[in-house]
Amino acid sequence: MGIRKWGYTLGATLSILMASGQETTRITLSDGPGKTVISRHIYGHFAEHLGRCIYGGFYVGEQSPIPNTAGVRNDIVQALRDLDIPNLRWPGGCFADTYHWKDGIGPKAGRPTIVNTWWGGVTEDNSFGTHEFLNLCELLETEPYISGNVGSGTVQELADWVQYTNFNGTSPMSDLRAKNGRETPWGVKYWGIGNEAWGCGGHMRPEYYADIYRQYATFMSDAGMEGGIYKIASGASDADYNWTEVLMRDIPHRMLNAVALHHYSVIDWSAKSSSTRFTETDYFKTMQKSWLMDELIREHSAIMDRYDPEGKVDLIVDEWGGWYDVVDGTNPGFLFQQNTMRDAMIAGMVLNIFNNHARRVKMANLAQTVNVLQAVILTEEEKMLLTPTYHVMRMYKVHQDATLLPVEFDAPSYSMGEESLPALSVSASRSENGAMSLSLVNIHASEAQKVEIDLSGQGVSGFTAEILSSDNLQDHNTFEDPENIKPKAFTDFKLQNGVLRMELPPFSVIVLTSE
Ligand code: AHR
Repeated sequence: MGIRKWGYTLGATLSILMASGQETTRITLSDGPGKTVISRHIYGHFAEHLGRCIYGGFYVGEQSPIPNTAGVRNDIVQALRDLDIPNLRWPGGCFADTYHWKDGIGPKAGRPTIVNTWWGGVTEDNSFGTHEFLNLCELLETEPYISGNVGSGTVQELADWVQYTNFNGTSPMSDLRAKNGRETPWGVKYWGIGNEAWGCGGHMRPEYYADIYRQYATFMSDAGMEGGIYKIASGASDADYNWTEVLMRDIPHRMLNAVALHHYSVIDWSAKSSSTRFTETDYFKTMQKSWLMDELIREHSAIMDRYDPEGKVDLIVDEWGGWYDVVDGTNPGFLFQQNTMRDAMIAGMVLNIFNNHARRVKMANLAQTVNVLQAVILTEEEKMLLTPTYHVMRMYKVHQDATLLPVEFDAPSYSMGEESLPALSVSASRSENGAMSLSLVNIHASEAQKVEIDLSGQGVSGFTAEILSSDNLQDHNTFEDPENIKPKAFTDFKLQNGVLRMELPPFSVIVLTSE
């Protein structure tokens, strides 16, 4: 039996315990009593007006020689469609609380400029605005999630934005929308009421923000949205549990669909490490910060459970991912970093954490989609590459809207000095068509992990599988070698008498789906 050094228990069925000296990890799974569905929105993305995410990333303009549809790069659209991205959050981030949406509609030549004060101090021409974003979401077949401006905006401005995008009939805003070329409303369901209100969104105290939230939410009309719009409160940073406590206590739950949480896998804000030239110690510390997501979700959920035992208010992790120093020679305000096998480990492990907490976590947004932080896509002029994180997201899409199968195992440890982490992360689900999927991550930098998964009674006769692995943790894709890291078919497993056996190489991700 393993020694419990670190771990978690959710309900009665899910637990990860740390084992020592155990050669093969035995994993069991159950259908569980709850039938929790893993919301596809856990696989959401985030596109801020920051560096080269929108301008020079998604959006190159209609006159660009790069193939585009209404200014948006076709190759990016295709890559994101292949991921089945369920939602896209926009326009920030910190930028959201500086953004005045009416400056980004109407003929482009007449749009005023805006200085992006948070990110590099660059002047933007507002050529990518509400129509461009919502048309992009239609191209992607994804749900828009708009972050409203609370920090420097007004209640009227946000109420007008909702009416502009959603109202189907005669109204000042829907008439303006039609004048700008769009008769039918888009129907935007997801609305954030401010962003990081405790920081760049206004440095508010939670009690003050809770009141402001109530005021804004009151005037955001449900008209035009079947079932109403879905309102998201700007949530806590990391372990600021008091923030969640006050919001859950002071905001009536009938006007609150979700509370957000932001947590980045950053080693230390004053010493973040290079995105490609890092040591194993840096890697270990990054993994510690990534595993912390599990504890944060448990603790914030416990607070929410006290105020909302029925789980009506969702927890949304609308910013997460690895955060390192910018690539040498790039604008420090643009947050452009490379993406290595370390990022694949963050993605695989954190997505498993979200899956396993799917009862309360209903949405998450990786920061950010293109050219910023833990991006799934990097571009350089006409070139585009898919990062290791992209590949993990693509492999994991089998879990979208599938039913969670809680897993139980004593995790082997990955130790450095006095510190230990679970080396193995696992989640499992069954999709509507009956297929079972398992995603396993071995974060250990040098040791393989043997696993045995008891699938007796699960009616599984075979699997197809893929693996993402590489020789070095620092390996990544470049514009010269864009396919250096990509998933490969994985056949090195045995399914005999209802037991699945395999060995996970060091720092690898494996996803198996039953045939
Ligand atoms: O994602 C980058 C920034 O991180 C966002 O603008 C902000 O919300 C967070 O601090």
